[in-house]
Order: sequence, then structure tokens, then C-alpha cells
Amino acid sequence: MKLCVFFAFLLIAQLVESIDPQVQPLKAIKQAPKVLLPASDYLSFTYYLNSCPGVEGIIQEKVKAWFRKDYTLAASIIRLQFRDCAVRGCDGSILLNHPGSERRAKSSRTLRGFEVIDDIKAEVERRCRRTVSCADILIAAARDATVLVGGPFWEVTFGRKDGRISIAKEVDIVPQGHENVTTLIEFFRAKGLNELDLVILSGSHTIGRTSCYSILHRLAKPDPTLDIKYWKNLRKKCRRGWNLVELDITTPKAFDTAYYSNLQKKWGLLSTDEALYSNEITAAFVNATLSQPSLFENQFAASMVKLGNVQVLTRKNEGEIRLNCNSVNKIY
Ligand code: HEM
Ligand SMILES: *[C@@H]1O[C@H](CO)[C@@H](O)[C@H](O)[C@H]1NC(C)=O
Ligand SMILES: *[C@@H]1O[C@H](CO)[C@@H](O)[C@H](O)[C@H]1NC(C)=O
Repeated sequence: MKLCVFFAFLLIAQLVESIDPQVQPLKAIKQAPKVLLPASDYLSFTYYLNSCPGVEGIIQEKVKAWFRKDYTLAASIIRLQFRDCAVRGCDGSILLNHPGSERRAKSSRTLRGFEVIDDIKAEVERRCRRTVSCADILIAAARDATVLVGGPFWEVTFGRKDGRISIAKEVDIVPQGHENVTTLIEFFRAKGLNELDLVILSGSHTIGRTSCYSILHRLAKPDPTLDIKYWKNLRKKCRRGWNLVELDITTPKAFDTAYYSNLQKKWGLLSTDEALYSNEITAAFVNATLSQPSLFENQFAASMVKLGNVQVLTRKNEGEIRLNCNSVNKIY
């Protein structure tokens, strides 16, 4: 009896389906089933092989030239990749420079390196017009910057389109340096990145600097998670909010694991750095970078690839190839 009712239900369900096109459009039945791959599966190593074969060389030469003039730009460009991918995915939205854009948000004030991307874009446009996205240029430039500071090399994939939307308010979700470790883990998880990616990518704070604004909350009174001698030293260095302090007190210019041994000594500069040593899972990864010499290098490359795949625009009708990285194309 129960079975009968079930079959009757099936029959009715099918009848309804065949009558009501809203439930099952006929078109969809005729077409071969479409397999929707993850957006990052449409990226490839050979994307510009025919359309702009020299692009990686152009980017590399430009990053090198800027680095020779000012080595501190390398860190800033690596940070730009994070800040692009962290909001709306790796779509070049951080590069858009109009009122109310991500780049104009308060917490974007310390971002640098935009002139490097603009310079690369101008040269790439001269060689292959309207072909290479700003999003891809930033990804390749961050890889080249990493190599220049002595970090690992990895192959980058191409095929990201540039987004047309950039909203300052959306930058609020990006951790700024005072969050607890749970918030950091959750933010990364929302991007498809795990605790290991969090620990390893934070390792880019082995180079670069922070403005004192980002650590003022640790300086007002002694902070039990900050070495007291270091604390006194920082109070001197941070008399002015806009002063800069090196993120890795031990080897500020070297892409090495000193960042992680600093955390064990309570020498992590941002409280979000030190917080990685307060959670069992992330602290175990911090320890692992110190006991397994090649872990940081190898995993950094792997995690940067993962970061570069976040929410990319690769499908038909998604995004555009911007002519100028600072503004969306005009529609005629
Ligand atoms: C875990 C969350 C993160 C937080 C809270 C954070 C926070 C910060 C802060 C506050 C600064 C200094 C800003 C200032 O000048 O005031 C900074 C700098 C920097 N960040 Fe992060 N960051 C995070 C993750 C990352 C990731 C994933 C990367 C790269 C993949 C990265 C790369 C850098 C670099 C290279 C600098 C130095 C920039 C320069 O010298 O111009 N950060 N970060
Ligand atoms: C971490 O910070 C978030 C947001 O401020 C807060 O809701 C949460 O309770 C905090 N978690 C811990 C473990 O302190
Ligand atoms: C990390 O290493 C330190 C020093 O060797 C040790 O005291 C600590 O318990 C370790 N932490 C974890 C989570 O493995």
C-alpha cells in the first residue's frame, strides 16, 4: 500500500514536470548535461602562449627593474596579491582607483606598489593590446617579487579576468592585525584556505614593514604576548603612528623562517602574528616550519597558488580585460 502511494506520487510528479515548463525546461533536457568545473580549473600555464607569448618575461624584467631601485617594493607587491584575492577574489579589484573603491578604504592606506603594476600594464598593452588582465599581471608580479627576495619560484597560471566592482566597505572583512586567531582561521577558511595556508602565508611577514598604527594597541601597556624588551624598544620606535617598523626583527630582508622562531620568543610584531602561536593547530605548524627546513619554501609556493585561485573570474561573460588597471573599461 505504502509502495503504491509512493509510485502514484512519482507519476504525478513526472506529469507535473512535463506540463509545467518552469519545473523542467525542455531545452535543458535536449542539451548535453553541462559539467560546471571550479572557476580556477579554467586557468592555465599556456593561456597567453599564442596571444602574448612574451608576457611573463616583460613582467619579470619590470619587477626586477623596480626592485633594483627600491627593494622594499617586493614585499608591497606580495601583499597586494593577498589584498586583491582577499576581497572579491583575485580580480584586480584592489587596483581600481575611484572614490569608494577598495583601494580608497582606510585600511588600504599603507598599500604600495601600484606604480609597478601600472608600468607593467603599459608595456604589456604596447606589445599585446587588450589581452592580458591586470589580475594576472599582479599574480605573476607577486611570484617574481618573491623570487627576488630569495623566496621560492612557482609556475603561475593565467586566465583571470578583471572585475568591474570594487567597494571600500568590503575591505572591512580583511584582518588588519588585531584580530584573534579564530577570526583569522575563519577568514581564511571562507576563501578555501586552511590553517596551514594561514600560517605559511603569514610567513611573508618575514620581510616588509608595518606602520606603527597597526601595533599601537599593543604598546599602551605591557602586553603579555610581547617580549618586554622588544616592547620597550617598539615604544621608542613608534613615537609617531606613521613610523615604519620591520615585521621580522631578526632578519628583516631575508625570506627565511626567522619569522616563526620570533613567534616562539614573543617577538611577533603584529598581534595576529603572535596569535598564531597561541592556537594548538597553528602553533604546531609554526613548530613544523622550524623542524622541517624546506616546509616553508615549498608550502609557500603551494599556498600562493591556492591564494591565486580564490574566486577567480574565468567563465564566459565574467569580467573584462581592463585597458588601464586603475579603472574599468567604458561601455559604449
Ligand atoms: C593573516 C592575516 C594577515 C594580517 C592580519 C596581515 C596584516 C598586515 C599588516 C597590518 C601589515 C602592515 C600594514 C601597515 O603598514 O600598517 C602587513 C604587511 C604585510 N603583509 Fe600582511 N597580513 C596578513 C596576511 C598576509 C598574507 C596572506 C600575505 C601574503 C601572502 C601578507 C603579506 C604582507 C607583506 C609582504 C607585508 C609587508 C608590506 C610592505 O612592507 O609594504 N600578509 N600585513
Ligand atoms: C574572536 O573575535 C570575534 C570577533 O571579534 C569574537 O566574536 C570571538 O568571540 C572571539 N573569539 C575568541 C576565542 O576570543
Ligand atoms: C612548539 O615547540 C615548543 C618548543 O619546542 C614547545 O614548547 C611547544 O609545546 C610546541 N607547540 C606545539 C603546539 O607543538
